[in-house]
Amino acid sequence: MADMSCIMVIFGGTGDLTRRKLLPAIYNLYTDGLLPENFAVVAVGRRDYSHEVYRNLAREAVANFSRKSIDDEKWSVLAQRIYYKKSEFHDDQGYRSLKAFLDRLDTNYHTGGNRVYYLAVAPEYFEVIAGQLYAHDMAKNDKCWQRVVIEKPFGRDLKSAHYLNHKLSQVFDESHIYRIDHYLGKEMLQNIMVIRFANGLFEPIWNNRYIDNVQISIDETVGVENRGDYYERAGALRDMVQSHMLQLLSLIAMEPPVDLTTDSIRDEKVKVLKSLRSITRETVMDSVVRGQYGKGFVDGKPVVAYRQEERVSPDSNTETFVALKVHVDNFRWAGVPFYLRTGKRLADRSAKIVIQFKQLPGILYFKEYGPLEPNLLVIWIQPREGVYLQFNAKKPGQKYSIIPVHMDFCQNCALYNNSPEAYERLLYDVMRGDSTLFTRWDEIESSWRFVDSIVEAWHGRNDDVLIYPSGTWGPEAANELLKKDGFKWWNVTPQGVGGHTDL
Ligand code: BG6
Repeated sequence: MADMSCIMVIFGGTGDLTRRKLLPAIYNLYTDGLLPENFAVVAVGRRDYSHEVYRNLAREAVANFSRKSIDDEKWSVLAQRIYYKKSEFHDDQGYRSLKAFLDRLDTNYHTGGNRVYYLAVAPEYFEVIAGQLYAHDMAKNDKCWQRVVIEKPFGRDLKSAHYLNHKLSQVFDESHIYRIDHYLGKEMLQNIMVIRFANGLFEPIWNNRYIDNVQISIDETVGVENRGDYYERAGALRDMVQSHMLQLLSLIAMEPPVDLTTDSIRDEKVKVLKSLRSITRETVMDSVVRGQYGKGFVDGKPVVAYRQEERVSPDSNTETFVALKVHVDNFRWAGVPFYLRTGKRLADRSAKIVIQFKQLPGILYFKEYGPLEPNLLVIWIQPREGVYLQFNAKKPGQKYSIIPVHMDFCQNCALYNNSPEAYERLLYDVMRGDSTLFTRWDEIESSWRFVDSIVEAWHGRNDDVLIYPSGTWGPEAANELLKKDGFKWWNVTPQGVGGHTDL
């Protein structure tokens, strides 16, 4: 059993991510008995708080954002292990004092010098903090371990990602760098490999002989909220496609790994990313649709257009929606389009993967009943988690008619089920030293290479940024993208057998 004893040092201790995700995750790990005996948290931030004031703020964050309600007795025990340290991220004196503080805590908590450094800060500080940790001898990995957790975005293109990686690897060995993609911590993403490789039913038909197309969508109802300045420089392509969507795609398309070790799994995922066909100036208009939300209504409430959001330029052309057709150029997938769609301020919040299977030859039933609905396998990722299978059956009764029916497995519908949040699993894995659910450098490299090809293809034009009303399914052109291939987006709901178009 790995030694998980450690101090978790969170840079950006007063930020949104820490409040909404990290502190609640630490609390839930604690109540589930998954934190090590020898453990403490040190939040580093620029504000002037005492430990006590920070603990009160942390309590409030946990009470607001934890999936389980807060138990005062348990909280008060955990809170005693949470500390606050004020420091600027580039201040030498701050690191000297932080180091002395951590060394003292090591003695109290028997953490032996082990550290998780969580960089929950804006990307421009990644390099500064890593450099300071090095300069102050805080990342030695000598008889103890020090790991660094980096939030996305890891760079904004291949060049800057290379630069950042180079800087980080001067301080930390690759095996100690944990690049977070929080989607990988979601229950159903961990389930994709099991569904594929633990069922004789699916794997033999998981290829271009039997699959017509694959649709991966992450639809959001939220807008950019208070992140206008970041989002203006990112857009949906960098924010969602480079990371979460390509990770989903690689899990769906990968070959079976030779075993379940971290590197065997990552080796197969990276091969998928390397097989993505680049998009060029010639193909971009046919394969990518981008849009930006205008004003409209979401959940019955009026919302402003993207260009009216705070810290967004009034004539911005940043895309908040993107739909693309992607090809994985290998033997398994040759000829099968993968359609990806993600957007903000859409009609509903959901993330899912739909696998559409090929039709059988229309010999038996076609003449009398016309084309039948295709078989669909849906992997629900959120908010519903589960698997859904659509197939054709005879409608009961004297008259012979064929209807699509479905089997639906929902793993988080039962009242007793309260799936752990992605960050719980990921923090736990960092402490155990298991990096399977984190992205390796070559995965980042290949995904940026693909995304950069689109950015380059877009260069110098913005006439294709289509405005869509908030609360809809995005620009009509996203429908056309599939229509011209003879397909449609499947809006499968747990109640309804699909067949409708979504847009
Ligand atoms: C983040 C993006 O990585 O993922 C956000 O930066 C997005 O823009 C979020 O809203 C979506 O995550 P989830 O877990 O809410 O689907």
